[in-house]
Amino acid sequence: MQDKPKLKFPKKFLWGAATAAHQVEGKTHNQWSVWELENAKSKAAQAEYHYDDVPSWSRVKHQAKSPTNYVSGQAADHYHRYEEDFDLLQKMNMNAFRFSVEWSRVEPEEGAWNVEAVEHYRTYARELKRRGIEPVVTLFHFTLPVWFTVKGGFEKRRNVHHFVEFSERIIRELGTDIRFIITVNEPEVYAFESYWLGNWPPNKTGFYSWWRVTNNLAYAHKKAAAAIHNINRRYKVSIAKNSCYFYPGDDAWLSRVSAHVMQYFQDDYTLRKVAKHCDFLGVNYYLSNRVYGYRIHSPEEKVSDLGWDLAPASIQYVLERLHDKYHLPMIICENGLADGEDNERQWWLTQTLIGMQKAMDGGVELQGYLHWSLLDNFEWDKGKWPRFGLVAVDYKTQQRTLRPSAIWFGKIIKHLREGN
Ligand code: BGC
Repeated sequence: MQDKPKLKFPKKFLWGAATAAHQVEGKTHNQWSVWELENAKSKAAQAEYHYDDVPSWSRVKHQAKSPTNYVSGQAADHYHRYEEDFDLLQKMNMNAFRFSVEWSRVEPEEGAWNVEAVEHYRTYARELKRRGIEPVVTLFHFTLPVWFTVKGGFEKRRNVHHFVEFSERIIRELGTDIRFIITVNEPEVYAFESYWLGNWPPNKTGFYSWWRVTNNLAYAHKKAAAAIHNINRRYKVSIAKNSCYFYPGDDAWLSRVSAHVMQYFQDDYTLRKVAKHCDFLGVNYYLSNRVYGYRIHSPEEKVSDLGWDLAPASIQYVLERLHDKYHLPMIICENGLADGEDNERQWWLTQTLIGMQKAMDGGVELQGYLHWSLLDNFEWDKGKWPRFGLVAVDYKTQQRTLRPSAIWFGKIIKHLREGN
């Protein structure tokens, strides 16, 4: 296949960016915001130990060593500034946007439905539609109402019905303004960070908790998808599946087998349970992993501000593999990098577009690309110093500035949309 294919995307292709409520909205009250206040000081104290080897350290250390970095607080105040942010989507000629509905806002106490918050999200989705931007709505993006976590959260299968009821109700409220729905964002990442590594609330490290949460999230997707389809079969439902590309670094038998096994556990354990309950597949891609023996040792020729190995072109292999296995149309629901200086984002996007095109030329049905993220945002346990935004946010003034790569990407999108 040629090295630089001609870029030609379908007429209805979704070009956009993604966010999640807790990371941008500001002033949320959920299990994460509670945890942040309890842990900010210790996170700041440990920052040097964890991050002094990342290339961006000298630039970010001041922020990373400050406890305020670890409190989402106002975040990007997107809850109030969303119209200004939608203007930015339009400036980049985008026709799609992924956001999440914050469950803790619409049902702050069990059974108590906050009509103002519901109205907010209805207006929000309607405003996107009015601007010709297709909303892609996420129902669970790592944050949960405190009352739900007090009951044991997703560790308990008997709690799943609460999530299904919330999903059904909010989709009825949003009505025909939406079509694409992500029930659960990256179920394995949530289960792994929160219940295996213990990095995220509720900081558990037990095998059984992890196992139960992983399975219960697959079950939650299945139940929520059924409830949503019951409202209307027109809704297109999926999870957002995080996927890395694992490849052997040499020809050794062990490297090949390890890469295969890692790929299987990462992608297929959950997908085998949920794929038949998906209308499309949401795919999040950030990383590739080179495997030597049973260890990961990636080349790291280029790394992000977080030290992640940058291999954007490998998105092609991720898409091809998922297509071969699950035969579903796909939407890239997240893809991007922490790059505060905007040194690599344009290169990353170029390589990604080429990888996507090659996958499509090989038969993959790709329906959209949503960059992570529209705005700089609150990067979970790392706080605000990693900068994933196409748009830079000054957290003091809330001023938004399109990064040079975003201006460039906007032109490319225009060109690709006009080419049809
Ligand atoms: C998550 C986002 C996160 C991004 C970058 C994804 O795993 O869905 O919430 O900000 O990765 O780390």
